[in-house]
Amino acid sequence: MVEMTAVIPTAILRLLDDWTLGTIATVDPEGAPNLSPKGTFIAVDETTLAFAEMRSPNTVRNIAGNDRVAVNIIDVFGRKGAMFKGAARFAERGEDEFENLYGRFEAIWGKELGALFNGIVIIQIDEVRPVTTPAYDIGADENELRRHWLSRFTIMQERLIHE
Ligand SMILES: Cc1cc2nc3c(=O)[nH]c(=O)nc-3n(C[C@H](O)[C@H](O)[C@H](O)COP(=O)(O)O)c2cc1C
Repeated sequence: MVEMTAVIPTAILRLLDDWTLGTIATVDPEGAPNLSPKGTFIAVDETTLAFAEMRSPNTVRNIAGNDRVAVNIIDVFGRKGAMFKGAARFAERGEDEFENLYGRFEAIWGKELGALFNGIVIIQIDEVRPVTTPAYDIGADENELRRHWLSRFTIMQERLIHE
């Protein structure tokens, strides 16, 4: 199947500057779905996402057999983000593609975490869709949502820290 490349809209690229946590769905050799979180997503460019592979044996195995993936990256404070679909490949440490991208990750996460990288999963995007909460459909204001969820999360975290 020939897939078209999709361009990630500027607003979503801006979200990706700050928000690096997302989930990636892959399909295993039996056809069952696998879903797992990755906290190191970056936009490599306007058509490509990548994350650092440290402890993702299922995802790496699955994309070796079936490169189709779906990714959700949602800013939980603004209750908005994006769903991406694309073709993933694994660049192992030592390969040119890994070495060319590694510096981008080290600049964000540092050498200590960087030492754990086995490789980088690179995703060529062929579909990107904005995802927003239905709260916007009933007139919610983005800044009010951000304040509301920041406050709820702050209260929750303070409780967890002190219990
Ligand atoms: C918040 C969070 C962020 C994570 N970020 C990464 C990551 O960036 N890279 C990675 O290899 N594993 C990461 N992990 C660990 C994997 O998701 C975890 O080991 C998972 O069980 C295995 O993933 P798999 O299903 O892709 O094999 C993260 C886990 C959590 C909870």
